Amino acid sequence: MTTTHRMYGALATWWPLISPPEEYTGEAAYAAALLGSAEIPVHEVLELGSGGGHNAVHLTSRFTMTLVDLSDDMLAMSRRLNPGCEHLQGDMRDLRLGRTFDAVFVHDAVDYMLDETDLAKAVRTAFVHCRPGGVAVFVPDHTRETFQPATEHGGSDDDTGCGARYLAWTWDPDPADTWVCTEYAFLLRGADGAVHTSHETHRTGLFSRDTWLHLLGDAGFDAQAAVEVSTDDRLPRDVFIAHRPSTSGTPDALGGS
Ligand SMILES: C[S@@+](CC[C@H](N)C(=O)[O-])C[C@H]1O[C@@H](n2cnc3c(N)ncnc32)[C@H](O)[C@@H]1O
Repeated sequence: MTTTHRMYGALATWWPLISPPEEYTGEAAYAAALLGSAEIPVHEVLELGSGGGHNAVHLTSRFTMTLVDLSDDMLAMSRRLNPGCEHLQGDMRDLRLGRTFDAVFVHDAVDYMLDETDLAKAVRTAFVHCRPGGVAVFVPDHTRETFQPATEHGGSDDDTGCGARYLAWTWDPDPADTWVCTEYAFLLRGADGAVHTSHETHRTGLFSRDTWLHLLGDAGFDAQAAVEVSTDDRLPRDVFIAHRPSTSGTPDALGGS
């Protein structure tokens, strides 16, 4: 199965212009520090929902990255940027590679977990792929506590004349449930100067810090929340740093439920 989102399917070739890898430098450096906080030395890192590999490209100088994404089209983009990394298609809710890593990184792709059942599955996947003494780092865009309705825009050009601009309008139709909505509008200019427009609605999950910590604890992690340290021009995110105790036995990456 692959993605149902056009942004990560038919439009995936535009991803480097929509969200340029250079914009990930700061958050990747921060993530690297958190990934390095494990009790064990961290060499091998699994990233779940690695997308175009825009974080990974900044992490490969320090770690051996294995990159997993739902979308074959996003994996194809990441292979171009990160040719030295292993790339695998999979769903973070049920992936079982049968091997473990020193650390697991789950950036904004975890936003696509829309209810607690799916979030618990993603957390479980991180746990079974994490070695005892290792760490899993989760960086959702928002928690219930940090969420604010917002409109943002961005995009960039390349040297062939192609360019992309987007507007993202995020709001919460029902604060009583566990998801919010983002309306994306894209203006995509080809090298011939022709501009195409595209609109897509994404639902993304929104959970309280307590829910995160409770699900991480249930999976077997020693977890804590922290406020991201960032110089980016946006509100800092809540991040979740989940250590797998070194005494928690042999990880069951073959399919523990
Ligand atoms: C915003 S993009 C991630 C971008 C990424 N941080 C980067 O560095 O390029 C979100 C990604 O989540 C992936 N995704 C969504 N649901 C997923 C799932 N259940 N399992 C794995 N990947 C998923 C999408 O295919 C998409 O590539």
